[in-house]
Parts: sequence; structure tokens; C-alpha cells
Amino acid sequence: MTRTIYILNGPNLNLLGAREPEIYGTQTLEDIREMCAARADALGFAIAFHQTNNEGELVSLVQEASEQAAGLILNAAAYTHSSIALHDALKSCTIPAIEVHLSNIFTREDFRHHSYVSPAVTGMICGLGGQGYLLALEALATWRKA
Ligand code: DQA
Repeated sequence: MTRTIYILNGPNLNLLGAREPEIYGTQTLEDIREMCAARADALGFAIAFHQTNNEGELVSLVQEASEQAAGLILNAAAYTHSSIALHDALKSCTIPAIEVHLSNIFTREDFRHHSYVSPAVTGMICGLGGQGYLLALEALATWRKA
């Protein structure tokens, strides 16, 4: 059985650290990658960590994860609120998937309250900053379908 968890990050998350730090904090995406690699290692998993600004590439990575990974963590960023293609890719995904957002999307603008990702994933974590990724890793490491 594969012991790799895919962690996929959507548009503008490459700017973390500098981007609206009052909302997203000061951790960079590389800080989050390092934290995730260490926690995954402790849990007996490897990670495949990606960021892309391209919707089609994100769809292809979800398809790749479904074929090659034990689980998927996805922060689709703004595509969360717009992408039916991503929704469809997740509906075809055969591994457990967790949606993560650094900020609490429900306390922000109305257009962030709707997610095309949520109805197609196993679970969702938001509002806990980078720690959300670690909680998602722990959930996937022990997840069993009820
Ligand atoms: C985000 C929330 C989204 O609404 C936003 O477009 C992002 C980041 C988050 O992690 O809080 O780019 O996914």
C-alpha cells in the first residue's frame, strides 16, 4: 500500500508570508511544507507537496493523487469558490480527501462562503492557519470509513 499523501495548493499560495499577513499569517508555503514533511514522517508517511496557479494543473494533480496516493489534502484557494472542474475531479477521486483553508472562509466575504470542493471531499478544516494541514495529515493517517 502506498504511504504517500498528496498536499495540493492552489493559486496565490506561493505568496504566503507576504500576502495579506493579517489574514493568512506570516508562515511561508515552504514553512508549511517543512512542517508537513516532519509530521508526515512521524506518522509513517511521505508527502508529495505541490503548488500551482493553474486550474487544469490542479485537476491533473487530483487525478494523479487518486491513482498514486493514500490520501489528499487540498487547499484549492480561490478555485474553491469557482471550479466545477475541480469538483468533478474530486468526485472521481477514490482516496480520502480533506479540504483545508488557512482562514475561516465563513467569517469573510460572502463569495467565499460557497465551496465547490466541500461537497466532493471527506472532510474540511478551516480557520486554523498552517496547523490545519497538520490536523488533516493526522486525520488521514488514521482515517477509516465508518
Ligand atoms: C484560502 C481561502 C480562499 O478564499 C482564498 O481565495 C485563498 C486562500 C485560505 O487558505 O484561507 O486563496 O483558501
